[in-house]
Amino acid sequence: MCGIIGYVGHREAAPILFASLQKLEYRGYDSYGFATLHQRKIWIRKNKGKISEAGFEKLPGTIGIGHTRWATHGNVEKTNAHPHVDCEKHVAIVHNGIIENFEILKKRLKKDGHKFRSQTDSEIIAHLIENNIGAGVEEAVRRAMLVLGGRSAVVVISRDFDGIIAARTGSPLIVGVGENEYYIASDIPAFLNRTNKVMYLDDGQMVIIEKNKAPVFKDIKSNDIIKKRIITIDWDAEQIEKGKYKHYMIKEIMEQKETIIRALNQDSRAIKKVANEIDKAFGVFLTGCGTAGKVCLTGEYIFSNIANKHVNYVTSSEFPNYKNFLTKKTLLIAVSQSGETADVLEAVKVAKEKGVKVISITNVKGSTLDRMSDYTFLINAGPEKAVASTKATTAQLAILYLLAYSLAKNIDHGKRLLLETASKINDMLNPRYEEHIKKIAKRLHRKKDIFIIGRGFNYPMALESAIKIQEVSYIHAQGFAGGELKHGPIALIEKNTPCIVLTKGEDDHDIISNAMEVKARGGLVIGVGPKRYGVFDLWIKTPSVGVLSPIVNIIPIQLLAYHLGLFRGCEIDTPRNLAKSVTVK
Ligand code: G6P
Repeated sequence: MCGIIGYVGHREAAPILFASLQKLEYRGYDSYGFATLHQRKIWIRKNKGKISEAGFEKLPGTIGIGHTRWATHGNVEKTNAHPHVDCEKHVAIVHNGIIENFEILKKRLKKDGHKFRSQTDSEIIAHLIENNIGAGVEEAVRRAMLVLGGRSAVVVISRDFDGIIAARTGSPLIVGVGENEYYIASDIPAFLNRTNKVMYLDDGQMVIIEKNKAPVFKDIKSNDIIKKRIITIDWDAEQIEKGKYKHYMIKEIMEQKETIIRALNQDSRAIKKVANEIDKAFGVFLTGCGTAGKVCLTGEYIFSNIANKHVNYVTSSEFPNYKNFLTKKTLLIAVSQSGETADVLEAVKVAKEKGVKVISITNVKGSTLDRMSDYTFLINAGPEKAVASTKATTAQLAILYLLAYSLAKNIDHGKRLLLETASKINDMLNPRYEEHIKKIAKRLHRKKDIFIIGRGFNYPMALESAIKIQEVSYIHAQGFAGGELKHGPIALIEKNTPCIVLTKGEDDHDIISNAMEVKARGGLVIGVGPKRYGVFDLWIKTPSVGVLSPIVNIIPIQLLAYHLGLFRGCEIDTPRNLAKSVTVK
């Protein structure tokens, strides 16, 4: 949610900022802007829409900042695009986050005579810095950060400072370390083609990167210097390119031929240890948002069926309401591809305040979630760039299965089943299969509604299927528990309304009855599963994998969503109104 980049070095900043910002576009894409520093003057260019070259090349200087926006406060207008400046243009700032006390601060600043150019909350940061500029820009940034409520990441250039000053109170910021040059960004892919050496900024910290000097990290409150280590990231730059594919989404769907196997590459002792913690805990919660939330809901079924263990899923934004049930004996498993989703981090914070042990399942080493957790399972899926999550979903599921099988003292059996499933997915994802799904997408792409039903393990996947179709094709899609259909939603079924039915190939009688109910009302029934039941008008075959059916059933739906999106001319990797990493509450 909003992408930030900064550069301090010996090369022209603008082209570097431009290329880096394009790599962050999945974090927000309604407008963008750059500011550079040259001969003690700040140069700015901004624009509405997706990043294009308009004017950026005219920016001189070897120090600069850039921003791609996902609007929160203020419309999508050029004036609301970042960077923002203060009245006298001492500084230019880019910001990711939400300033919760911005109304009070803005009122106060206006009273002091500051003139605002935008409707954003972010602009107040520039004016707050201006208020204290007499104390020096570093101190002025520090003082500004001390009064900001909410979660923020801020990067500042100033005409009075030969470098960049950045600060973090919630939203992510990472320093990339090059050869006598430094980057600062909200996510590693921004600079991964230039360096894989990073230094993490933790909450409540700031960094001062002066040209030709090593960065200095400080605690915002105490102003004490903090020592940092340089960490090497094992992602390589190629992994974040589309390669032979037209979109990241299809590349990432296809990568599921290998990613499930990679997810299984876990330390068995850690799996057993965490399974033991789950066993001992008094109250186990799973939490996540969006797709990761649906993975967590599947986790309830996985632990119940495989390990006879009751775990509760609570969507992260609602988790704080459960704080009265948390004790030192509670265990929280937080699932997040990015490890930066604000609602997840807030849930973890609430849990930690109650002494709860936190286990995380994430794709990003060094992410805030990873650093807040007592133990992290990395899903090893490689960077996921398309906004719609695909390969991370199945990898997260694989880890939950491993934990449940370990809890059931059957980890080797579980691993074998997962490996067999991975090899069946490899066979399934062939061009003929995609072609078949494409034909179904062609038939469905003008429909105004699509319903998806499932039972048991496949109920959460029905919900996830709806998310995929909504995100990528903008068709109204809704998932239901098969049994719930008759309690209301069936009123929406008309002649030829498509209803996708997720099945397992065994114990399917109840879901098939629900499919019959749809068919009896004229609905078009599209079956997904290993068996072709008579009620299906159309059928997408998936391998027979028993309790692992969520992993194989969601993949054809990902493909269907992709092709629906293509037929409808949608922006596949960067759907409207969405962002990959939602760092605001
Ligand atoms: C956003 C994305 C979703 C994603 C969710 C959780 O809403 O658009 O695709 O599932 O965030 O992201 P996380 O990184 O926590 O898994």
